[in-house]
Amino acid sequence: MVSNAVLSQVEALREQLNHHNYLYHTLDQPEIADTEYDAIFQQLVRLEAEYPELVVAHSPSQRVGSVPLEGFQQVAHQLPMLSLDNAFSDADVIDFDQRVSALLDTSSSIQYACEPKIDGVAISLLYEQGQLVRAATRGDGLTGEDVTQNVRTIESVPLILRGTGFPEKLEVRGEVYISKSVFTDLNIQQVKKGDNPFANSRNAAAGSLRQLDSRLTANRRLTMYCYSVGLVEGGALPGGHFEILEQLQQWGFRINPLSKVVSGSRQCIAYYEQLGQKRADLNYDIDGIVFKVNGLDLQQQLGMRTRTPRWAVARKFPAEQGLTRLNAVEFQVGRTGAITPVARLEPVQVGGVTISNATLHNFDEIERLDVLIGDTVVIERAGDVIPKIVSVILDRRPENALPILQPETCPACGSDLEKSGSEVALRCVGGLICSAQRKESVRHFASRLAMDIDGLGEKLVGQLIEAGLVENPADLYDLEFDRLIDLERMAPLSANNLLQALNKSKLTSLQRFIYALGIQEVGEATATGLAHHFGDLQRLRIADEETLQAVPDIGPIVAEKVRHFFEQSKNNDVIDRLLESGVRWPDIAGSDQEKPLTGQTWVLTGTLVVSTRAELKRKLQSIGARVSGSVSSKTDCLVAGENAGSKLAKAQALNIKIIDEDELNRILTENKP
Ligand code: IVH
Repeated sequence: MVSNAVLSQVEALREQLNHHNYLYHTLDQPEIADTEYDAIFQQLVRLEAEYPELVVAHSPSQRVGSVPLEGFQQVAHQLPMLSLDNAFSDADVIDFDQRVSALLDTSSSIQYACEPKIDGVAISLLYEQGQLVRAATRGDGLTGEDVTQNVRTIESVPLILRGTGFPEKLEVRGEVYISKSVFTDLNIQQVKKGDNPFANSRNAAAGSLRQLDSRLTANRRLTMYCYSVGLVEGGALPGGHFEILEQLQQWGFRINPLSKVVSGSRQCIAYYEQLGQKRADLNYDIDGIVFKVNGLDLQQQLGMRTRTPRWAVARKFPAEQGLTRLNAVEFQVGRTGAITPVARLEPVQVGGVTISNATLHNFDEIERLDVLIGDTVVIERAGDVIPKIVSVILDRRPENALPILQPETCPACGSDLEKSGSEVALRCVGGLICSAQRKESVRHFASRLAMDIDGLGEKLVGQLIEAGLVENPADLYDLEFDRLIDLERMAPLSANNLLQALNKSKLTSLQRFIYALGIQEVGEATATGLAHHFGDLQRLRIADEETLQAVPDIGPIVAEKVRHFFEQSKNNDVIDRLLESGVRWPDIAGSDQEKPLTGQTWVLTGTLVVSTRAELKRKLQSIGARVSGSVSSKTDCLVAGENAGSKLAKAQALNIKIIDEDELNRILTENKP
């Protein structure tokens, strides 16, 4: 039996440690020396060793990591983790602000929260009754990985919340990173151990978070800044973004002290410039500034696109540049046969990353740059984007510089190349006989945002194609263990893992499947639009161009590509085989097809009295309408509340149906789902 005295001693030690942890990690204002902290820590460790029954998951002693995992569990985010649109110039920031004002129908200055954009790894922390219960990576925004064990070792992440008043369920989001000083130190250690140094601190942070052995993570000294909340249940938060951050800090989260609220685009630009000056002195890497509309009610009104909110933008710092020599140009064949010239460069460090390849886009670009092999070129790298050649230093052109010749036939299969219509790209006409196109289409099919076949990366796809085991995506599901283990470097365990991953990928969603098909011009957003509109693959397969153009955001070009794709018998054969192999998806619950306002675009404007705008938007969506922020010729109906302004005038000019809030409520009641 543990005596009450021991119990309260343990609790007092934990409270002290949590308090000093908060002062040190969250507020950056320690009150005691490290040695004093260590002494208290050791006292707790000793008592917990003596009375193991007192150990609890949220004890400050439990940050050292625990037994290695076999793999990470998938976590579905209840609210998607969005990414941000980019602004590359002051003009882009002004445009953003004007767009926001127009959508909100206001002429007064918008309040923006400004924050440094940390170049780390996004994380979601879930607290229930004030205790950290789960930490997950962003993944593709909808599904991430459970990295709770690893995140528990990060000292700036509270294991239990301080104070009171927090919601029963609270999801906090932010960026995990490694500070510059720790990063330098870590790389010295890596080299000493004979391991490769990390290319940059973001890779180091990402790698550390994905360790199966959390004891290794604990040694990496990760830290985190929180920048928003996700799910909130059983409690309320303040009505402004910045005010929420202040509240989070009270509960123990580390918040960037440079965050600030400003008014209008001019002050946003000034903040960006000030931070640009300070950038080099910060102890962490930032790649830009994030501007967020501060009012949560306004954020709600603005809503989001597929993956990005309309209420925020990231102003990126200018790309970093370097000088190097162009050694050669090779030609890559893409999924749809487009030939892309790729520059092979003398390796050079740009912004802490070694660059040895850059894209040259197409032959028009080569001509525009007037670049020759052997030239000294300026290359630029902006964040994640593939580096590109921006100009040539003509003064340094060597005498033996050579012109870059257009290939006459496909470098992969020898087929003819053609340039169709207004397209700039040169394309291989080989289609499925071209191994490069086959490889790219299978790789795309397996990729994370498509069928998400774990472990089926570029190398393995190449092997499967070269061995003749796979020609198109449908062949993947016919792969057999005995053939797989004949491949070079394929152990029985990996073969089994691949087969399991293939099996698992069969249960997907209609939008992923459509995206995976790799139809020209059909990216993720278009695939989602098609899935929601048609709700069913068969309907999409027989749709004519006119029907396709009724889908929001699909114009004649995309409609033509989609119809063309589904007219090809070889594509239909592949699709039929995929379905026969068991590729399937849940029915889209009451798809748009059966709803009263399917295919219609509605706009809400003015002051709505009976319900909030967000509520009406949700109700309209539930009966199939798309609710847009602006009036255009595609708008079917405008709901005008009191004091409606420019949108009402525009709708009148375009002869669009206009109704008031009462009329809308009548329609909603009549059509209740
Ligand atoms: S807000 C809906 N704030 O940048 C907005 N993101 O491109 C979601 N990031 O995935 C993000 N610092 O990992 C936000 N102060 C900040 C940020 C930040 C870094 C990262 C984050 C996100 C990516 C978006």
